[in-house]
Amino acid sequence: MTAYLIKNVSVVGAAPTDLLIRDGVVAEAGAGLTAPDATVLDGTGLVALPGLVDLHTHLREPGREDAETVESGSRAAALGGYTAVCAMANTSPVADTAGVVEQVWRLGREAGLVDVQPIGAVTVGLAGERLAELGAMADSAARVRIFSDDGHCVADPKLMRRALEYVKAFDGVIAQHAEEPRLTEGAQMHEGEVSTRLGLTGWPAVAEEAIIARDVLLAEHVGSRLHICHVSTAGSVEVLRHAKARGVKVTAEVTPHHLLLTDEKAETYDPVYKVNPPLRTAADIAALRAALAEGVIDIVATDHAPHAVEDKECEWAYARPGMLGLETALSIALDVLGPQWDLIAERMSRAPARIAGLEGHGLDPAPGVPANLTLVDPAAHRTIEPAELASRSRNTPYARMTLPGRIVATFLRGEPTVLDGKAVK
Ligand code: DOR
Repeated sequence: MTAYLIKNVSVVGAAPTDLLIRDGVVAEAGAGLTAPDATVLDGTGLVALPGLVDLHTHLREPGREDAETVESGSRAAALGGYTAVCAMANTSPVADTAGVVEQVWRLGREAGLVDVQPIGAVTVGLAGERLAELGAMADSAARVRIFSDDGHCVADPKLMRRALEYVKAFDGVIAQHAEEPRLTEGAQMHEGEVSTRLGLTGWPAVAEEAIIARDVLLAEHVGSRLHICHVSTAGSVEVLRHAKARGVKVTAEVTPHHLLLTDEKAETYDPVYKVNPPLRTAADIAALRAALAEGVIDIVATDHAPHAVEDKECEWAYARPGMLGLETALSIALDVLGPQWDLIAERMSRAPARIAGLEGHGLDPAPGVPANLTLVDPAAHRTIEPAELASRSRNTPYARMTLPGRIVATFLRGEPTVLDGKAVK
């Protein structure tokens, strides 16, 4: 195994130092290190972060390998600075059995570019009617700890309660896609001034807020862990703030796109901006940013949602919701948060690793720690060319935009997956 000596790198924003990576771990840290057998990387001007961890990735395999595979999504993740991703269960077949989650887990190991941790479905076929085999998935080789029907809400309160009770035994988490389905029937975009003007059926903020309010109360009643996927409204932030003040075991994520883009993008009628939950208003963005800084929202998660061309390049009403995220998330975080490295490390690596219980991830580079880390050049800018992305899909909302920051290298257990900004395999 090649050793790597990274010279003059800032670890999470601290004064420059050297890092020696050997045998899968950070072997030494300090100024003036030498290692004759090591490959030397110049880290001048670069920031080393713990490898990013995404709690919300759609890898589409099995079933829609034309949109993404575990391997292509893993490569996109590594290029985005990630060393672990949690793969959502809305595949075909749905990841609602030990067999499917083990398949995804094994494909992740074979690709070997990031650690792929499958998320299991809460209900059979995501149909919201019967609990899936949560225990069998937890006991499988994939050791599932997060369960989600993402893409669909677990709308039945009795089923949601049962799911929370079930996972309590093994400290599992239910990750809810908060969308009251009766309130969003036929919805095409955020319900507000822009939807009225465009004549498109709206997705009201209260459809998200009502489910979060219900579920934090259920989680409190049961004493279980709840995670809220892609929080998108200012009102949701207030519900979460209240729940956290009461000591409810709830965590929450926000996506990069909900931190940056508003519902005004729908005026273009370009379905690349169609996403679920929809893009909201500038006031929602301000509340989400403040909540992220404060910790009411715990993490940034991408909701990387690759879609084939025919599912996106069509009329808005027929297009599938979702946008790519893995290869641009760190740049959007830098754009939104600025060089607050400790905050970025916390919200994009440490906290998601803790929530998912991923051992060896989310740890700042230091002697003895598994070498899961990424090197960022914060001074670099790059223009996003969809055709150059590693994802099999092209549905990025940032096409031809120039974004700050570039991932220079990513290491998974001491092996580079990305070097000089390029995937190693
Ligand atoms: O926009 C979305 N796309 N939101 C979801 O909840 C699901 C996702 C998908 O699977 O494409």
